[in-house]
Amino acid sequence: MTMSTITSTRNILDAVGKTPCVELHHVVPDGCARVFVKLEGLNPTGSYKDRMARSVIEEAERRGDLRPGMTVVEATGSSTGSSLAFVCAIKGYSFLVVSSDAFAEEKLKTMSAFGATVDIVHSPSGKITPELIPVMRDRAKELSQGEDYYYADQFNNPDVLVGYEGLGRELLEQIPEGIDAFCGAVGGAGMVMGVAKVLKENQPHCSVTVLEPASAPAITKGHGGLHSVEGIGIGFLPPILDKQLYDSALAVEESEARAMSRRLAKEEGILAGTSTGLNVVAGIELAKQLGPGKVVVTVACDTGLKYVRGNLYTAE
Ligand SMILES: Cc1ncc(COP(=O)(O)O)c(C=O)c1O
Repeated sequence: MTMSTITSTRNILDAVGKTPCVELHHVVPDGCARVFVKLEGLNPTGSYKDRMARSVIEEAERRGDLRPGMTVVEATGSSTGSSLAFVCAIKGYSFLVVSSDAFAEEKLKTMSAFGATVDIVHSPSGKITPELIPVMRDRAKELSQGEDYYYADQFNNPDVLVGYEGLGRELLEQIPEGIDAFCGAVGGAGMVMGVAKVLKENQPHCSVTVLEPASAPAITKGHGGLHSVEGIGIGFLPPILDKQLYDSALAVEESEARAMSRRLAKEEGILAGTSTGLNVVAGIELAKQLGPGKVVVTVACDTGLKYVRGNLYTAE
């Protein structure tokens, strides 16, 4: 008889992390390295952001910067917001979030469902423009004046890395044969930097590639631009992005990312958003370059259930 590994927990926060890592079998052409994807959509709010929300709140509590009765404030495309709203709900903090109608309605409604107060910055084009995130951040800074407020400030807050280092440690356990290349799309850069730190410390040969949408090439060309890949391509270089921790940068066409998200659902059974499609397009490119016998790892950032009302799965 085999022992069950299913455990119970007293605290839903312990349900964050420990996600499966699966190999892709259908979308990777012959003659490539193996490609593995960490299924972060299985976190409680359906996104790897649960990891950073937990570490941002708990590190601030540990230092005494965040105390009972205070209000947490953040500007977010709403994945971070959904995760912070979840953690704040459990811990009893009020949460004031600045977001935009450029992001999926599902996410905006999720934050409200967890009890957050949502302040919307209107995007006239409906797109993520280079100006949008700075405007949202200025508004959040303005709203967080006063000693009863804690501004989570994901773009400048090194506490995000603590949560993502856990993701990196899980990968070391899940792929004992070693990882030759890791890639991930950059928003605030917390995920790719947290994982890269662990991989570089433990497997120095592993190369790390940071990714962005081709129409918003801040890392590869030095300027932002319009796109609809939620969570990434923020129009400027995020302060957490550390040149020492990555080896190369790659810009990926949004249309290829969207097509890959659809293929992942139909051919691999992985329902995930556009940033995941972008990660997998790049992962396959690296796998082609490395060839058989090597291992490439990337991340399914979130669940595609966040996007079913939009046109991700219906458009060609
Ligand atoms: C769906 C999605 N993918 C990717 C990212 C990028 O993650 P990071 O901010 O850690 O770079 C985000 C961040 O908001 C996101 O929401």
